[in-house]
Amino acid sequence: MKNQPLDQYLTKELIIKNKTIHNRMVLAPMAGLGHIALRQLISEFGGFGLLFTGMCSAKAVPHENPQTSLVFKWRQEELDTLVCQIFGSEPDSMARASQRIEKEGFFGVDLNFGCSVAVICKKGCGAALLKNPDLSSRIVKAVSKAVSIPVFVKFRTGWENTPQLAVDMARRFEDAGADALTFHPRVAPDRRSRPPQWDTIKLVRQAVSIPVFGNGNLFHPDDGVKMIRQTSCQGLSVGRMAVARPWLFAQWTKGFTPGNDIFLTAALRLTHILQDHYDDPFAVKLFKKFSPYFCANFKFGHQILKQLVQAHTMAEIRNNLDSIFESDPEILSRPNLNLFA
Ligand SMILES: Cc1cc2nc3c(=O)[nH]c(=O)nc-3n(C[C@H](O)[C@H](O)[C@H](O)COP(=O)(O)O)c2cc1C
Repeated sequence: MKNQPLDQYLTKELIIKNKTIHNRMVLAPMAGLGHIALRQLISEFGGFGLLFTGMCSAKAVPHENPQTSLVFKWRQEELDTLVCQIFGSEPDSMARASQRIEKEGFFGVDLNFGCSVAVICKKGCGAALLKNPDLSSRIVKAVSKAVSIPVFVKFRTGWENTPQLAVDMARRFEDAGADALTFHPRVAPDRRSRPPQWDTIKLVRQAVSIPVFGNGNLFHPDDGVKMIRQTSCQGLSVGRMAVARPWLFAQWTKGFTPGNDIFLTAALRLTHILQDHYDDPFAVKLFKKFSPYFCANFKFGHQILKQLVQAHTMAEIRNNLDSIFESDPEILSRPNLNLFA
């Protein structure tokens, strides 16, 4: 990147297997946050290359009904830039799920080798697979043999702070047929309490010839510049900050300048989109998951959050939003990370 401005670097095209993206800034997969409604809101601002779904169970995907499923759900018009993430522990079932994902028309499939929450790891899925490199290779091989769409792998450093293990896994994934990697340089089960070790992204990037998306604590455009300069990663994968500010991609890559009214406008818009896709109780539940990230934007965000989530219906949430914004809350230039999970 050298002296190139961030937006120019991020809007350089990138080839991933047999497809080209025109923007290297992507939404990280996030269960409970990266749902169809948030993705629609992000799409309305634009400025991203790809969006990723939250993790879907590979066992469920082959027979899941998108009309009734709460997570395996998409809008037809987003498929060209949408990657579906799956978790599982069996090569055959991961391959079958990937075939369904290809048939539905997704841009690609993403394999979860990074989730360190106990319910997932106990089943031998997510980051637990990093303890079993041979099985990990077999999963990636089975999937890349089964589909012709790009196969992404998302993984983390591993279970001990040994960067070489991440480098070895990256090479394994590439050898097994992965077409791109998203790397989150944290040790399991650390769930974002300590800063990610970006230097390990550099080692992973140097170890493979497929594109690497760097992930972890990208909050400000300066962080984006720093990660690219420090690691030479080909793209950026942004998670929580894109929940807090769904216009972030447009801001970083398209010169979009948000006004202060964007916070209320975007939150209200999300309430309506949620209701277009879900019944009221589930829409409320998803809005409450979004709320800590949203409230992290404000001074006294804890108090605002308390007020916002005292609601049982979407109508009550909208009333709360209106009354919160009547007092013109002070916007922070960097979000209050204490509110980020
Ligand atoms: C609520 C939540 C859910 C997440 N779910 C997933 C998931 O389903 N799959 C996955 O690979 N990573 C998941 N992650 C991890 C993110 O993709 C990402 O690696 C992490 O948030 C660090 O990036 P950030 O600092 O930009 O948020 C999740 C993170 C959060 C906060």
